[in-house]
Formats: sequence, structure tokens, C-alpha cells
Amino acid sequence: MFKDKNLSPKQLAALTALLLSSLIAISVFVWFPDWKVLLAYFLACFVAIYFILDQILDHFVYRKIKLIYKLISQTKASKREEAYQKYILPKKGIDEVREDVEEWAEQKFEEIKKLQSNEEFRKEFLQNLSHEIKTPIFSIQGYLEILGDGAIENTSSALKYINKSQANVQRLVQLVNDIDIITNLEINKEPLLKHQFIIQDTIRDVVNNLSLKLEQKNVQFSFKKGCENPIQVFADKNKIYQVLSNIITNALKYGKQDGEIIASVYLLEDKKVLIEISDNGAGIAEEHIPRLFERFYRTDDARSREVGGTGLGLAICKHIIEAHGESIQVRSKINVGTTVGFTLPSKG
Ligand SMILES: Nc1ncnc2c1ncn2[C@@H]1O[C@H](COP(=O)(O)OP(=O)(O)O)[C@@H](O)[C@H]1O
Ligand SMILES: [Mg+2]
Repeated sequence: MFKDKNLSPKQLAALTALLLSSLIAISVFVWFPDWKVLLAYFLACFVAIYFILDQILDHFVYRKIKLIYKLISQTKASKREEAYQKYILPKKGIDEVREDVEEWAEQKFEEIKKLQSNEEFRKEFLQNLSHEIKTPIFSIQGYLEILGDGAIENTSSALKYINKSQANVQRLVQLVNDIDIITNLEINKEPLLKHQFIIQDTIRDVVNNLSLKLEQKNVQFSFKKGCENPIQVFADKNKIYQVLSNIITNALKYGKQDGEIIASVYLLEDKKVLIEISDNGAGIAEEHIPRLFERFYRTDDARSREVGGTGLGLAICKHIIEAHGESIQVRSKINVGTTVGFTLPSKG
């Protein structure tokens, strides 16, 4: 007890009472060397001092500590908290109380940090969004001005400006659609509708849908050898279609003329399926790779190439895959190509 620095108020009162009553009893014993008197003094003093000290500590220390705990938990005490304050708190030493307060402060600090980073994220998102919206709107404004200033008289140049305006309107529509998708995913408006399906069939559906664009660029699509055997996954088919469509469109967009796209599907040991889409295009420099899944992030190369795109595609993919509790990664080498891979559960 003497070595224990972490004394509760009651223990502290008992210890002090023990020391003081021993001292008093010994002093009395010097004058009246009678064991019975000694014992009587000791007991009477111990009880009196313990009682007084306990009341004082309870009133001035423990009640204030209780108040601190009430402030920390903020909410009205639940049944559990009430029991805690009644039975556990009185047994706590000052050091334990300090530890609890420190733990609470740390927790609050983490919460504030998270709120600050969310706020930062929100600001950045709005900044990017207004930038992405401004660019096509200003272009459309410019083309309309040129048309109004007389270009409308010349049919061929009028058509050129109308086409350019249309392309910018298309870009705005795509942007709004992508933002709609990402917001719906975020507020969990459309919960995942999972069921069992063959992943190769979905890959084929996406490729068939893009066949015209593949032909235009003379890009060959194939499954890697040994990856054609049907493999089942347990996931939201429509959303996975969206993911594959984004990834294969990227492989096509950022791939080269006469290039190739290869899909591979592997059944992993821990009931997971790994799906990879590879291209032999320009590749992505290493410094960009960690940021590709950020909203609106596009490499400078992709920006200057004017191949459309909102920079939201991979952010949407990540959202969908993570909602399935899985992960998505990119491997790439400049002038060699890019592989985007993600996992899905094989069974429900
Ligand atoms: N297969 C790929 N090859 C090269 N670069 C790619 C590939 N896939 C994605 N990227 C890069 O990642 C960026 C983000 O992709 P994404 O989110 O789909 O946006 P985007 O709308 O530009 O396609 C692209 O702008 C591009 O710079
Ligand atoms: Mg894309």
C-alpha cells in the first residue's frame, strides 16, 4: 500500500488516519503506559480521522473529479455510466483519472484532426469542381461569341464552332454524371446488390460494348492464356460492369494505336478472385501512381492529350471496389504499359 502511488481517495484517508492515529496513540502511551488506553485511543482516533478525511476528500476532490467525468462524457449518463460513477470511479486513483483525461484528450485531438482533413478535402473538391466546370463553360461562351460576331454567316466555320460547343456540352454532361455517381456511392443511396456471376462474361460484355472504339484504334482484346475458364465472383454485377468499363476505356484511351489489351482472371487461395486489365500503352510515371485514385487527378499527359475524361473514373472504381471490402491497385512502366488489378470475393 505504501509503495502504491496510485491511491484512491478512500485508501488515502485510511493511510493518513493510520499514520496520525498511530502517532497520537504512541504519544499517549508515553504518558499512560497502558495497552488498553493505547488501543482505545488508536481506534477512536483512526475512526474519527478516517471519517473526517473521507468526507473532506469526497467533498473537495472526488465530487470535482465526478464533474470532470460528466464533462468528458458530455451526454446524459447512461445506466452503464451511472454504475461506473457509483462503483468504479470511487476506486480510481488520481493518476488513473489523469490517464483517463489524457486518453480523452488524445481521442478529441484525433477527431479534430479528422474534421480538419475532411474540411481540407471538401475545399479541394469544390476548387477542382469549379475549375473543371469553368473550362468547358468558358469555351462554349467563347464559341458563341465568335458565332455571334459573324462566324455564323459562314456555314463551314459555324459548323466547326457548333461542333466544338457540343463537345464541351458533352464534357459537362459527363462531369455531372460522374459526380452524380460518386455522390450516390458516398451517401450509400444504392446499396450493393450482390449475387454470383461469371466475371469473364462481364468483361466480354464491356469489350463488346466498346468494340467500335477498339476497331477505330485497331486495338486487339484477348484473355491471357489459361484465364478463359469461367470463374464466379460474388459482387454487384452492374457496379462491377461500371468498374471494368472505366478501366478498359482507360486502357483504350491511354493505350497506343494498334495496341493490345489483355484481361486475366485468377482464383486466389483465400476465396478471392484477382482481375487484371493490362495495356501496352504509354504507361504512367511512378510519381503519379499513388495519386491516380484521387478525384479529378489526371496526369499532365492525359490533360494535354484532350481525350476527354473527367479524372473521376478511377475514384469511382476505388469507391465501388472498397464498398465490396476489396482493393484495387495500379502497376505501370513508362513505354511498357499499365496494369490495373482488383480483387473480388469468389463466394457469398
Ligand atoms: N491505362 C492507363 N494508361 C495510362 N494512364 C492511365 C491509364 N489509366 C489511367 N491513367 C491515368 O490516370 C488518370 C486518371 O484516370 P481516370 O480517373 O479514369 O480519369 P480520366 O477521366 O482522365 O480517364 C488518367 O487521366 C490518366 O492520366
Ligand atoms: Mg477514365
